[in-house]
Order: sequence, then structure tokens, then C-alpha cells
Amino acid sequence: VSLQRCNTFGIAARAQALVRVRSVADVQDVLADPRLARTPKFVLGGGSNIVLTGDVQALVLKVEIPGVRLVDETDKAWIVEAGAGESWHGLVAWTLQQGWPGLENLALIPGTVGAAPVQNIGAYGVELQDRFHSLDGIDLLTGEAFTLDAAQCAFGYRDSVFKHRAPEAQHGAPRGFGLAGRALITHVRLLLPKAWRPELGYLDLERKRAEASVEHPSAQQIFEWVCQVRRAKLPDPAVVGNAGSFFKNPTVSPEQCQDIIARDPKVVHYPLPDGTIKLAAGWLIDACGWKGKSVGKAGVYDRQALVLVNRGTPQASVSGGEVMTLARAIQTSVYERFGIRLEPEPVVV
Ligand code: EPU
Repeated sequence: VSLQRCNTFGIAARAQALVRVRSVADVQDVLADPRLARTPKFVLGGGSNIVLTGDVQALVLKVEIPGVRLVDETDKAWIVEAGAGESWHGLVAWTLQQGWPGLENLALIPGTVGAAPVQNIGAYGVELQDRFHSLDGIDLLTGEAFTLDAAQCAFGYRDSVFKHRAPEAQHGAPRGFGLAGRALITHVRLLLPKAWRPELGYLDLERKRAEASVEHPSAQQIFEWVCQVRRAKLPDPAVVGNAGSFFKNPTVSPEQCQDIIARDPKVVHYPLPDGTIKLAAGWLIDACGWKGKSVGKAGVYDRQALVLVNRGTPQASVSGGEVMTLARAIQTSVYERFGIRLEPEPVVV
């Protein structure tokens, strides 16, 4: 089975087999099938945060579980549940249409609802964990259903328990330590407080607000600004293959940051509450001259150096190997110039 249309990079990798799961029962049927018991399984959502560096030697479970509903409403909040196969952006738009604000800053992030907790998606000052209630999943090793709250998901910056592998993920091993390769998320619940405040701390949005001279923007207004900002600087994966930001923004100590500022006064940096300083990886890559460059069919997007793109065609697409070669070349130049090791953000398969 070709996976080319199942990953937003458009990489032409293949899988042994692919099963579309549309319900919890579908997942249980696959796990109960004795012919598949020994087959390794690989969970795929929208494929918007992966780099396939070869064929997938596993049965791909493509999660297409549908449904969005209000599961609870209190004086303080709405709790909304969505099937893991729903489009994330669709969910954001739907909640706003219902009059439930809170997800507007996360508009237009590609991918599915089920993938959102894996990397704790974030943009413009809001992360999934800020609106997260709980999720349901199925342990692919034991077939058991489970529910996790935010603490159990161990969210971090573009990180969660779903990105970490337990040292020995084997039958009967305790859950919670690392769930990479082991969990299939079926439903996600979000908590949207009724006491809504706009989140406009991010420069791009503040600029939009100033341009429009709107004092108190609505959530719908912010949603539209976020869509405009993203469309202006991020490539649409339907047109140019990519997986969003390719590296995480690194954090450094104040001393390291001072060193860099002494040499490069323009370095874009943001102090964090814990005293460390976050640097804009896009700026570092740009400063090394990579913006718009290509190596083979892998390229650096010309409006955002943090995004690597597929410059091939559907018939002759970039390979995961080429993407990783470009990524390593970028890591080397950033390291040589700034002494900083950039870490890839998507899951490299
Ligand atoms: N910059 C440059 N040159 C570039 C790219 C960026 O100088 O080529 C500078 C910009 O001028 C800006 C700063 O770097 O001052 C930060 O850039 P930007 O606002 O575009 O955001 P980012 O830090 O590059 C992060 C997230 C994005 C998220 C945006 C908005 C990560 C790895 N990326 O990007 O998330 O949409 O902030 O909040 O944290 C993703 O994870 O896939 C993703 C797209």
C-alpha cells in the first residue's frame, strides 16, 4: 500500500498493509484477529507530523474515528469530545460556530484530533495542554481501553508520553512511562472555560489587532487573524509537501544567550518563566543562509526557514532520506555557528 497520500510531506513510502479504523470496535476487531496478533502495528492520523524514511514494516492503523459532541456543560466550562479521526481545524471551527471560544489560536494546524496530544500542538501562545481535559485510547499490546488526564499525558513543549518509548514495551509492562508505538488514541476531550480571554501576546497577532484597530476582538476575529498569518508564512501541505516546523525552538541559559547576542545582536529570543531563554530556530537557520535553499528534492521554505518542504513531484517525490540529509546539514551549520543542537520536531519513522 502506498502511503504517499497519507503523509503531508508527500513522501512515497509503502506499508505492508493498511486498515482504516472508524470505531473502538474496529480497533478491538483488529487486535482480536489471531492472524494479526504478531504483526507490528503503526498508528497513523493525518500524517502531518511524520517523516517516513523507508517503508513501514507494520500494519498501518489509519485512525478515522468520527464524531464531535458536547459531553458536559457546567457554570464554568464546556467539555467537548471529538473522535480521533476528526480534522483538528474542523473541530476548532465547529466549536467557534457553537459559540464556545478557546481554540481560536490553534486554527489551521494540519492533522487530526487524535494526533494533537501526541506533540501537544501549539501556536500563538496556546498549547493543546491549556485546553485539554482527558483522552481515551487503546493499548495495542494488551487490547485494554484506558483514559488519561493531562498529568498522565506528561505534556511538554511539542512533547508527551506518546512520543517516548518505554525501555521495554512488552506485554504486561506498566503504562504511563512511555506510550510511543503502543497507544491508539480514540477520543479527545477539551475543556473550554466560559471565562474567555483573548490570547494576543504573540507579536503577529498584536500586529493584526493594531492594523485593524480593534480593541476587543472576538474569538472569531482571532481565528481569522491566525488563519491569515499562517497562510502568509506557512506552506499549504495540499500544495507544497511539508510537516510544519521541522525543528523545535531550542532553549539556552542566559549566559549562552548573552554570548550569542554579543556576536549576533539581532538573534530572536524570548525569556521563559523558568529563567531560560527560547531562541527562534527559524531565525538561526535563516541566519545561516538556508532560507529558500535545496539539497536534492528537499528544500527550505522561502518564507519560513523552520519549515522543510518537498520540491519533488508526486511521480518523483522527495525521499525521507533526502529530507534527513538536508536536516543534518542544517543542524551542522547551526551548531558550527551558534553551538546549538537543533532537535527535529516531527516523528522520524
Ligand atoms: N524567523 C526568521 N526567519 C525565518 C523564520 C523565523 O527570522 O525564516 C523569526 C521570525 O521573524 C520571528 C521568529 O523567528 O521573529 C519566530 O518565527 P515564527 O513567529 O514564525 O514562529 P516559530 O517560532 O518559527 C513556532 C511554532 C509553530 C507555530 C508558531 C506560532 C515551533 C517549533 N514552531 O514557530 O508551530 O505555528 O510558533 O506560534 O515551536 C509546528 O509546530 O509545526 C508549528 C508550525
